[in-house]
Amino acid sequence: MAERSAFSGGDQEYLRNVQYADGTKLDARAHLHLTYSSSSESFPQFEAGLIDWPTDGTVLECGSGTGLFWNNGQAPRSLAITLTDLSPGMVAEAVACAEANGFSAIDSDACDVQELPFEDATFDIVVANHMLYHVPDPDRAVAELARVMSDDGVLLAGTNGYGHMGELNDAIADVWGTAAEGLYEVFGIDTGEARLREQFSSVAWHAYDNDLLVTEPADAVAYGLSFPPGETATAAEQAAFARAIERRFVDGALRIRTRAGAFVCREPRGRF
Ligand SMILES: C[S@@+](CC[C@H](N)C(=O)[O-])C[C@H]1O[C@@H](n2cnc3c(N)ncnc32)[C@H](O)[C@@H]1O
Repeated sequence: MAERSAFSGGDQEYLRNVQYADGTKLDARAHLHLTYSSSSESFPQFEAGLIDWPTDGTVLECGSGTGLFWNNGQAPRSLAITLTDLSPGMVAEAVACAEANGFSAIDSDACDVQELPFEDATFDIVVANHMLYHVPDPDRAVAELARVMSDDGVLLAGTNGYGHMGELNDAIADVWGTAAEGLYEVFGIDTGEARLREQFSSVAWHAYDNDLLVTEPADAVAYGLSFPPGETATAAEQAAFARAIERRFVDGALRIRTRAGAFVCREPRGRF
């Protein structure tokens, strides 16, 4: 594997204190997905629909970010949920989001998924969305997710793969000559399953089909400037990136292909 960039797990201080100190940069990316989705259901709705939810049960989310997952209609509001993230700022935003969505039995902790401060077999459902590609040792993280899951529990692990946001990455490459596909070498659609199968006997992939139909160039520009290399762009680079986005618009719109979905994992190994 190529040397890790700061964004793909090479620098946890950067992830905790800069990129994800609060939800601002992630919000720019979420805004593009939420505003221009062509799917009738949001990613949280799609993913929550992949499993049967117990009325009473315990759920752990790792790498919660701003808590967008809890904006789904399927998870019973009676669940006891524990929200965790490497960044304390993100944990606070996730708790607020879950409360706003009607959850009240909420615990939270700022912690690293590679070293979870929970007993073995504690949770009925474990959620780790779009975060394992930021982790220095994804195998250790997956082992931790399996360890804290109950024998008959389930893990939801959402991720993306090579080609995700291809048109936007092409515009990034026009300016900087590289795009952030390194994430998917760490943990993506094509690389995650083997890591998960080390820890779970049952691993099933579910694709989320959802191209984006963007009509406002500034929203795509904000997305591209929210992470490296655009995150530290000079004014000249920002202008060049805006031009690279604008010239891809055809008849007032830019179609951006996505490649996303979720792994549903059961039967943690070594228990049966
Ligand atoms: C791309 S965001 C995803 C947020 C949320 N799960 C979602 O899908 O909207 C990645 C999140 O993982 C967190 N994260 C990164 N490395 C982590 C680690 N080692 N342990 C726990 N959380 C981590 C970041 O702070 C960030 O909030």
